[in-house]
Amino acid sequence: MEPGWVPESVDVDRPSLARIYDYMLGGFHNFAVDRELARAAIAAMPDAAVQAQANRAFLHRAVRFLVDRGVRQFLDLGSGIPTLGNVHEIAQGIEPQSRVVYVDIDPVAVSHSQQILAGNERAITIHADMRQPERIFADEQVRRVLDLDEPFAVLAVAVLHAISDADNPHRSIAAYREAQVAGSYLVVAHGAEGVRDEESKRLLEIAARTTTPLTRRTPEDIARFFDGYELVPPGLVWASLWHPDAPSQVPDRGEDSGNLVGVGRKL
Ligand SMILES: C[S@@+](CC[C@H](N)C(=O)[O-])C[C@H]1O[C@@H](n2cnc3c(N)ncnc32)[C@H](O)[C@@H]1O
Repeated sequence: MEPGWVPESVDVDRPSLARIYDYMLGGFHNFAVDRELARAAIAAMPDAAVQAQANRAFLHRAVRFLVDRGVRQFLDLGSGIPTLGNVHEIAQGIEPQSRVVYVDIDPVAVSHSQQILAGNERAITIHADMRQPERIFADEQVRRVLDLDEPFAVLAVAVLHAISDADNPHRSIAAYREAQVAGSYLVVAHGAEGVRDEESKRLLEIAARTTTPLTRRTPEDIARFFDGYELVPPGLVWASLWHPDAPSQVPDRGEDSGNLVGVGRKL
């Protein structure tokens, strides 16, 4: 029998990116197929779990940075399984009025998030595909939580590399930008080409066996997500190098964190 947090629609025999990432972060909402694939991913790229942790740590720092800058609304695309410090916990911990909409395509991520958020009026999770911005903005629950006339931050952290070129993630991000008023923000973390390409190639082959295959992009392609935004310093950098909390967070080589990250302010 499956544990209570497994929605009926979930195929427990097919590995999922959300659950593999959960495993890499030390979470418990994953199945044997996910753990097996996660271990294969770590064999292909020994730093894979460290990269996941560096990415999550960047997300935390970016949210704190934005709350400090007065942002009170967050749209977290591909939010994942709540594992280690979620956006609403960080934002509402600093400013209790903060509002958060989580969006994920994975039923386990959505079901578990909804359980955690029960009773929280200012944070919701919807089951949706980030490639369909118009459906997300038309959702009544989303309209209740987010005031689109006020600035809000779109978080696309470690999710755009799960969207293939054929699905044109730049077009999706442009649609989110169109819905934002000036002074809103975009946060991106994205697996980049150009470092450890052999290891990455093996990792992508493994990812192709999950429900969401991955696409690495060049730094130039990642920078294009920020068209219409002004990147805040230090610009587009490796995850561990973006406003590190303490020098100890910075590994010898920033590229060890695998993802290029940036925060842009809408012009
Ligand atoms: C690697 S996790 C990142 C989680 C979180 N953003 C973080 O950085 O800690 C990627 C998440 O994106 C979700 N995802 C993939 N494609 C998606 C899509 N088209 N729409 C919404 N979510 C998606 C996956 O289910 C997974 O939970």
